[in-house]
Amino acid sequence: MAVVLTGVGEIKAAVASARSTGESIGLVPTMGGLHEGHLSLIRRAREDNDKVIVTVFVNPAQFGPGEDFGSYPRDLKRDTELAAVAGADIIFAPDNETIYPEGFSTFVEVEGLTDGLCGAARPEHFRGVITVCAKLFHIVGADRAYFGEKDAQQFRVIKRMAVDLNMPIEIVPCPIIREDDGLAMSSRNVYLAPSQREQAVCLYDALQKAKALYDNGERKPGKIISAMERIITSAKDARIDYISIVDDETLEEIEEISGPVLVALGVFFGVTRLIDNIVLR
Ligand code: PAJ
Repeated sequence: MAVVLTGVGEIKAAVASARSTGESIGLVPTMGGLHEGHLSLIRRAREDNDKVIVTVFVNPAQFGPGEDFGSYPRDLKRDTELAAVAGADIIFAPDNETIYPEGFSTFVEVEGLTDGLCGAARPEHFRGVITVCAKLFHIVGADRAYFGEKDAQQFRVIKRMAVDLNMPIEIVPCPIIREDDGLAMSSRNVYLAPSQREQAVCLYDALQKAKALYDNGERKPGKIISAMERIITSAKDARIDYISIVDDETLEEIEEISGPVLVALGVFFGVTRLIDNIVLR
């Protein structure tokens, strides 16, 4: 059974004790609502490290007004059990006051990489993600932190932050875990009504279409995006936030595909916003 810690002092003491015997530390930041996607990160951290710390913190700073902060799934007991089975030693589950005590006024931003894709529609989102990750990295002092490629922009932004701020931590990417029909696993999938859940497979279908066109030699982003739009708009509840094809490294829009590109999308089903992506190389 994993131990649940809520205080910064407690987690630092646990890390110091592991360090004193030369143990390596892997960190898996999450907002809970754990599913196979999260568990794959924990299993990977288990393989690479002596101690695995999973954080469960629904970070208010990364939710915009009117988003789902209040309704986000919260079940620490269930998350603790699942994380322990996957290999977590410690669950760090701080409350809001622990992470953002009164007077808190320091935020970390990454420029450029956060302008497009999810950053365009959610202007404050990445500032909140980056700030909480910077704090978690400082509090825990892990050797490695594990992030899913499902949140492709997030992974790239966090990696940039760690490099730019000389943080002594390796940011490890982990592949997207999907349901049997291809829908990327997400804590937000539980919000989908049954008919929306059925329609949501169109996101994966659209990404597979992009790959098929690319494999057949198509190199015009506009052509690929149009084909994806046709697939997604045929699902009656789908409302496209963005479909973008960007340089895999800079995340800048491109005119013609030459090097590796990230095909990324954000689509609403009712009030539920889902994201997914594929890298073409
Ligand atoms: P959350 O959405 O809980 O995701 C935690 C980690 O699990 C992220 O690195 C995410 O990319 C990964 N993940 C989610 N679904 C996945 C899937 N289907 N396959 C593989 N990995 C998946 O992302 C966040 O929380 C927050 O922004 C956080 C980084 C914790 C900062 O608050």
